[in-house]
Amino acid sequence: MSRLIVIGGGGHGRVVADSARGLDVYDTIVFLDDAPDRMMDDGEFTVIGSCTELESVIRPGDSCIVAIGDNRNRAGLIERVLASGLPLATIVDRSASVGSACELGPGTVVLPQAAVNIGTKLGIGCIVNTGATVDHDCQLGDHVHVAPGAHLGGDVGVGSGTWIGIGACVRHGISIGRDVVVGAGAAVVDDVDDGLTVVGVPARRRDHTA
Ligand SMILES: CC(C)(COP(=O)(O)OP(=O)(O)OC[C@H]1O[C@@H](n2cnc3c(N)ncnc32)[C@H](O)[C@@H]1OP(=O)(O)O)[C@@H](O)C(=O)NCCC(=O)NCCS
Repeated sequence: MSRLIVIGGGGHGRVVADSARGLDVYDTIVFLDDAPDRMMDDGEFTVIGSCTELESVIRPGDSCIVAIGDNRNRAGLIERVLASGLPLATIVDRSASVGSACELGPGTVVLPQAAVNIGTKLGIGCIVNTGATVDHDCQLGDHVHVAPGAHLGGDVGVGSGTWIGIGACVRHGISIGRDVVVGAGAAVVDDVDDGLTVVGVPARRRDHTA
């Protein structure tokens, strides 16, 4: 048994902590968050400081998870955790399923009722959120977020930093680039280049006007 430090005390952080608590691996779960006034005061979890205090609160035997939904912010904090020497946890909720021959990078979370099927590889700091499914032999880079209820068919490739929006679907064999945003509810049936935002059914590029 050991202590888990959860960085990020918003709604996502509480979901991740709840999954971690159900594993009976951690005897203590504490939070770091830069906005203590929004933190939970329900007595369930304790905030021990702000994210800037990370290095000063580490104790031998601790591990850490960065529980921030925004991919870029999560990536930055993961870099900092790695630089501190603190091990990154990988958390799979008890109700989630991960098939054989799958690889989950450090700092990756698979949340309640999600499924990751045989042969799929996820990089560092990915989120497979509540009820999302990632079918067989997919390859996800680092810091990818598959939002709640999104579904990826088999053999899908997703580049680092990409966000698949809530309830989106991606057809089998599709390749999605880095730093892409797939809008909520989209159906992706063609490959998507790096950096694009796509929305709709079928998903089409949305040009930024700002
Ligand atoms: C695609 C997305 C990133 C665009 O966000 P945005 O830049 O703030 O866009 P806006 O809300 O200003 O909308 C701009 C236009 O795009 C349309 N649009 C936005 N999201 C859309 C979507 N998912 N599908 C279809 N159209 C969408 C809006 O209707 C609007 O159209 P209009 O110009 O004709 O009025 C966002 O709407 C989205 O879907 N995010 C995913 C959210 C999510 O999955 N959250 C999960 C949290 S765990």
